[in-house]
Amino acid sequence: MQIDLSTKILNIRLSNPTILASGVMGVSGAACVYAAKKGAGAIVPKSLGPKEREGHANPVLVEFDKGFLNAVGLPNSGVDNSLGEIEFAMKNAGVPVFPSLFGGTKEEFGYVAERLSTLNPQMLEINLSCPNTASDFGEAFALNEKAAAEVIRIVKSKTKVPIIAKLAPNVPDIKKVARAVVEAGADAISAINTMPGMVINVDVARPVLHNRQGGVSGPALKPVAVNCVYEIHKAVKVPIIGIGGVTTGEDAVEFIMAGACAVEIGTGIYYRGIDVFRKVTAEMEEIMQRNGYSSIKEMVGAAHK
Ligand SMILES: Cc1cc2nc3c(=O)[nH]c(=O)nc-3n(C[C@H](O)[C@H](O)[C@H](O)COP(=O)(O)O)c2cc1C
Repeated sequence: MQIDLSTKILNIRLSNPTILASGVMGVSGAACVYAAKKGAGAIVPKSLGPKEREGHANPVLVEFDKGFLNAVGLPNSGVDNSLGEIEFAMKNAGVPVFPSLFGGTKEEFGYVAERLSTLNPQMLEINLSCPNTASDFGEAFALNEKAAAEVIRIVKSKTKVPIIAKLAPNVPDIKKVARAVVEAGADAISAINTMPGMVINVDVARPVLHNRQGGVSGPALKPVAVNCVYEIHKAVKVPIIGIGGVTTGEDAVEFIMAGACAVEIGTGIYYRGIDVFRKVTAEMEEIMQRNGYSSIKEMVGAAHK
C-alpha cells in the first residue's frame, strides 16, 4: 500500500508530521537547519523574549528513570539580537520554521510577536508557560484561561501571522483554556509544555536542580500529554500539535489518534539521537501499513470513535 506521511497544519504542508520542539536543541539557526536536514518536518526554535535573559544557574537538567527534569529558565539573547538566527533557519532549513515567543507581560508578547512577524514566518508558537510578572504569585499565563486569552488577543492585534497557542498540562480543565485561546483568536494549539516536578538527591537532602522545581519531559509526560490532546480535540476545531515524550512512531500515532495532526519532539533526541525524526517517521509508516491507514488524515482523532 502507498503511504502518504505528509500532513497539513492550516494550509501549511509538512512532508512528515515530526517537528523539532522548542528549546531542546534549536537555539541557533544552524542547529535548526541541522534538525531539518536530519528529517524534522518543521522546526520550532528556542523561545525568544523581549530582551536578553541569562536563565537559571546550574544544574538546570537532570535525568531520572522515565524522563528529564529541566529548569533552564528561558535563557535567550532577546528577539532583536536573534532575528538573524531565525532568518538563517527560515532561509536554509528547507522546511517550515515556526518561531516561538514568550513575555513577562501581555504587552511584551505583543512586542516580540511584532518583531518576529517582520520575518514573515508561516506561523508563530506562543509559549504561555512563562510567569506572568503582573500576577500576584507570578503564575504562568497558561494556568489562567483569562490571562492566556488576553495574551492571544494582544498578539493577534500585533500580527497577521497565524498563531499556535502552546498550553500547559497542570490545569484543572484544559478544555476551558483551549476554548478561551481559540475564542481569542488562536489558529492552532500545541500541547503540552512540561509538567512541574522535582528530583531530590537523598544523600545531600536537597533538590538536584538549582531552581529546586523543574519541568518534567520525556516518556513520563506522554500519557498526560495524550490525554490533554484528546480533551482539546473534544473542545475545539483548530489543528492540534501533540507534544510530550514522543520517542517512537507508536507514540506519535497515539497523539494523532487522540486528535493531533503533527507532533513535536524534544527529549526524544536525547534517547534516540538526532535521527529520531527519521526513525519515528519510518516506524509510523510501518504501523500505518500494518493497520491499513494510507494517510495521516485518516488517523487524526481515530481514538474518539
Ligand atoms: C531543556 C528544555 C528546554 C525547553 N525550552 C523550551 C522553550 O524555550 N520554550 C518552550 O515553549 N518549551 C520549551 N521546552 C518544552 C518542550 O518544547 C516540550 O514542550 C516538552 O519538553 C515536552 O516534550 P518532550 O517530552 O518531547 O521533550 C523545553 C524542554 C526542555 C527539555
